[in-house]
Amino acid sequence: MGTFFFIFFFRSFLFLLLSSSVSSSSRVFPIIPFDEGYSPLFGDHNLIIHSDSQTVHLSLDESSGSGFASHDIYLHGYFSASIKLPSDYTAGVVVAFYLSNGDMYEKNHDEIDFEFLGNIRGKDWRIQTNIYGNGSTNIGREERYGLWFDPSEDVHHYSILWTDSKIIFYVDEVPIREIKRTESMGGDFPSKPMTLYSTIWDASTWATNGGKYKVNYKYAPFVAEFSDFVLHGCAVDPIEHVTNCDNSLQTSETLPSSDVTHVEKIRMDNFRLKHMTYSYCYDKTRYKVPLPECVIDSRQAEKLRKFDPVTFGNGRHRRGKRHHHISKEAASF
Ligand SMILES: *[C@@H]1O[C@H](CO)[C@@H](O)[C@H](O)[C@H]1NC(C)=O
Repeated sequence: MGTFFFIFFFRSFLFLLLSSSVSSSSRVFPIIPFDEGYSPLFGDHNLIIHSDSQTVHLSLDESSGSGFASHDIYLHGYFSASIKLPSDYTAGVVVAFYLSNGDMYEKNHDEIDFEFLGNIRGKDWRIQTNIYGNGSTNIGREERYGLWFDPSEDVHHYSILWTDSKIIFYVDEVPIREIKRTESMGGDFPSKPMTLYSTIWDASTWATNGGKYKVNYKYAPFVAEFSDFVLHGCAVDPIEHVTNCDNSLQTSETLPSSDVTHVEKIRMDNFRLKHMTYSYCYDKTRYKVPLPECVIDSRQAEKLRKFDPVTFGNGRHRRGKRHHHISKEAASF
């Protein structure tokens, strides 16, 4: 009897594993050459397209950063690139892979961000994710994480899935954050067509330890490598604002994994418990009451509180002292 149930559960488990790997592999969308989907945006002399147009180097030196932008604007889709970050001393350097329509909507733009924050020698890069909707720039929804690998050693996949009901950030096919659209978010959920951008720039004022460590150009140029460009989105006509894609892409039916599978959810929760170092939902110094879309996980709350009692604790013993403390989170940069 016991053996039977063991086999039964083991088989169900195997099935779950298999179905999850099937859904991950179905996320393999066509990889396009850089030229086909993107154009240089700024710092042209620091943007090098390798002959086959499969790989691009963006660098930051004393003269300039650099960046590229997609030709098309998209309403929803799956956007991905393989990225290898600059190594050694990278404090103050930010590499960003993001969707935005800030050039079209000055006052009420949308944005979905993957930001990589450089670090001093011997300390790892951090990842930050964030969204804005309809100009909600006064409400930050940042999260930050460490990684389970050194992102400057090799290329890894970073992907954004955006549908009308959710946004999922992936690192190497592991979902690290899922934002479900809730009614309470109102216009704060990104909902207008956006361009895909990637940039490298000098963010000395905030990127590392709140600006304590600045870019040191002795270590320049800082070079980030990009490849495996995927722009699987619903392209929108910028003038007429009509979508050229079928409805199914817009309503996400052809975007696989628009639901995180059971196994993916477990991997996501594990990642977040282990590697998340900041979340706006748990930041008591910033939001006395968490924003309505926040679902508080007690284990996560406990973990963050231990990591940084000033930011994530109840703050009762620290009143008035807060500004004199450098939080562990900041110090760990
Ligand atoms: C977005 O903002 C504009 C003006 O700032 C407002 O008129 C509009 O209703 C907002 N849209 C949503 C979906 O909240």
